[in-house]
Amino acid sequence: MVHRGGMVIVSNRAPVTFSRSESGERTYSRGAGGLVTALNAVSRRAEGALWIASAASEEDVRVAREPGVCEIEDLRIVLVEHDPSAYDLMYNHLANPLLWFVQHGLYDLPYAPELGGETLRAWEEGYLPTNRNFARATAEALSGLESPVVLLHDYHLYMVPELLREEVGEEPLISFFVHIPWPEPGLWRVLPSYIREGVLRSLLRSDIVAFHTRRYARNFMASAAELLGAEVDPRGGAVRWGGREVWVRSYPISIDPAEFEEAAESPEVLREEEYVRNLPGALLVRVDRADLSKNVVRGFRAYGRMLELHPEMRGRVTFLAQVQPSRGDIPEYAAYAEAIRRSAGEVNEAFGTPSWRPVELSMQDNFPRSVAAYKNYDALLVNAVRDGMNLVAKEAAVVNRKDGVLILSENAGAHEELKDNALSVNPFDLDDQAAAIHRALTMPAAERARRARALREAVLSNTIEDWVAAQMHDMAARRKAFS
Ligand code: G6P
Repeated sequence: MVHRGGMVIVSNRAPVTFSRSESGERTYSRGAGGLVTALNAVSRRAEGALWIASAASEEDVRVAREPGVCEIEDLRIVLVEHDPSAYDLMYNHLANPLLWFVQHGLYDLPYAPELGGETLRAWEEGYLPTNRNFARATAEALSGLESPVVLLHDYHLYMVPELLREEVGEEPLISFFVHIPWPEPGLWRVLPSYIREGVLRSLLRSDIVAFHTRRYARNFMASAAELLGAEVDPRGGAVRWGGREVWVRSYPISIDPAEFEEAAESPEVLREEEYVRNLPGALLVRVDRADLSKNVVRGFRAYGRMLELHPEMRGRVTFLAQVQPSRGDIPEYAAYAEAIRRSAGEVNEAFGTPSWRPVELSMQDNFPRSVAAYKNYDALLVNAVRDGMNLVAKEAAVVNRKDGVLILSENAGAHEELKDNALSVNPFDLDDQAAAIHRALTMPAAERARRARALREAVLSNTIEDWVAAQMHDMAARRKAFS
């Protein structure tokens, strides 16, 4: 077992956001989202672990300025204050539009952000300084710890391994988990070499680089070989570079089933179920952030195509789309949110009647309604262009009560584990998705039941606890192998 007290978790998103109530008291809300929920499990398991993250709200900044560690429930948190314009360049100009777009294969599209001009500035004045802040805060947290372990998470922090090694040398064990897809080397060539090579060189200062799927791990090793000339052992999962050996592993992230079962029976969810159950006909559901990678617009078009090809389905199905606002300060995201509204409206206009609205679109963060929808869907659409894992597919499969059918993009990380009992779709092909929606909604009951049961079992056989345990095991093995 890894030395418990010596663990430091670092991510851009914090597990809680602080605010001030009207009476002037400090309050907080726990952060939502798959990554933060998963890291909560890591933090709980590694008792005494410290979690370093960016200060996001005004009150967070006040917390960041207070000395020492902030203890909230079972968490120990250190918030890092960034210069606001550096943070804006990192989050809104470099990490989300550029790295996120490239890694999700969203480049060559009319709405992709332009490269050049501001890119170098965003890298030098945004990405590097914020990463340096994380590295310094981590170095500080490590001082005095024995056998320290640093768990770095996701694409906002790619330069931290290198900057941290500059501060503290080779002693801490660094594991870097990339939660989004790692595409084939050719896609990385979209980025200027100072970014793509800088990112690879830095990641290779870690001891373990981890992904959700074997495909991403393979792509990472191919990128290190092709773009840096590193020596790679794809079978053994190792990259040798700069006199060091880095292990490359895949650990499919999962959920805490008990947490979702409990949420499913909460009064808020039971209340929302009244709304969900009153929608006419069979229920097609999607739950996503308003993100281009989630492919929401094509999902509506595919549904429209299905209604066009199968007029007998009109009036007999409702598509409930729970789409949460996300990254709204980035122009491409704001435009996409509009495109989502427009395309839902187009389907309603083309097929709706006075008594039937084909699409019910809600663009708010409404967790109880999402869980109510998970419980009641007949078909769930997860048609991401690419997705690191997609936890919606797993959360929903565990609490669904209707033998609902999962329609799953072959480019979602979850496809590696769930493909045998989902209906696989090509996220670019409208006909393929329309056919899958129709098949899901007309599938015989016995087949639905068999698939739903198998999906649930697949999720229960690899929970968030297993995800954490597998990483802890490999970190201990790595420490032993190189000590
Ligand atoms: C994805 C990323 C996470 C990120 C989350 C929410 O799951 O892998 O790193 O935290 O999206 O995005 P946000 O930009 O709101 O943190």
